[in-house]
Amino acid sequence: MELLAGRIAIITGAAGGLGRDIAVELAPRCAGLLLVDRAESGLAETAARVTGSGRPVVTHVADLTDSDAAEKVVAVAEERFGGADALVNNAGIVEYEEFLATSPALLRRLLAVDVEAVYRMTQAFVGSLRARGDGGAVVNLGTGHALSGVGGTSAYAAAKGAVHALTRALAVELAPFGIRVTTLALGTTMTDRVRNDLPAGLIERRMAQIPLGRGAEPAEAARAVAYLLDAEYATGTELVLDGGFTVFGDR
Ligand SMILES: NC(=O)c1ccc[n+]([C@@H]2O[C@H](COP(=O)([O-])OP(=O)(O)OC[C@H]3O[C@@H](n4cnc5c(N)ncnc54)[C@H](O)[C@@H]3O)[C@@H](O)[C@H]2O)c1
Repeated sequence: MELLAGRIAIITGAAGGLGRDIAVELAPRCAGLLLVDRAESGLAETAARVTGSGRPVVTHVADLTDSDAAEKVVAVAEERFGGADALVNNAGIVEYEEFLATSPALLRRLLAVDVEAVYRMTQAFVGSLRARGDGGAVVNLGTGHALSGVGGTSAYAAAKGAVHALTRALAVELAPFGIRVTTLALGTTMTDRVRNDLPAGLIERRMAQIPLGRGAEPAEAARAVAYLLDAEYATGTELVLDGGFTVFGDR
């Protein structure tokens, strides 16, 4: 049976960007959604976009770096839905800096959001699943920067690399309980942040290094998240969706 049908999914970072597209993709496939983000107005906008699915949608505003945030998210899922079956760890920050210019503050910020918050969110979610005796699935958002070396991205690459490693370790530890853990490793994906924040020169350089010649549309990435949640035989899987960026040797 597909995991999503009749089940509840938590999506972090759902106030915009990829998280919004993931919500749009998952809403008609599952029984209900819990959307989490620190940005309240964006969350409401995402909820408005998915209400047409007819599925119940609950929003919860939280900064996932707060020490009790993950437990509260899971408490909301239990209270409103009787618990969740799927978790998409999408919330993250992307910040690039040259290695020697990387400040302790930037490194701490990346590790807090991209590693510790993901770890704690997953811990709380799995704790609830195990207590209910149910199986489930986690998808972590990863990156090609954790798979191939890209200069000027060391702190982000180190943080996301930890998430890729976490996926593999949890896939083994949680398999006996029917809980699958996978990573979606994305290349450049054309969210508003990427379109607006990346300098034009950098986007052009990136496109020249992608064999398929374009970035992914957020909806394409969202479909890959749905696939990983549903794929019964996938655990520890690293699905690379990057137009060929990481295998491109002809530079
Ligand atoms: N867009 C890309 O090209 C790309 C490529 C590879 C990986 N990714 C990964 O995909 C995910 C989504 O990326 P995006 O491009 O949509 O980014 P985005 O900045 O548009 O969205 C990230 C969301 O996470 C939320 N968030 C950040 N920190 C939070 C915190 N502490 N607590 C709660 N919410 C928080 C933000 O408010 C925002 O809504 C990230 O994990 C990113 O690393 C993106």
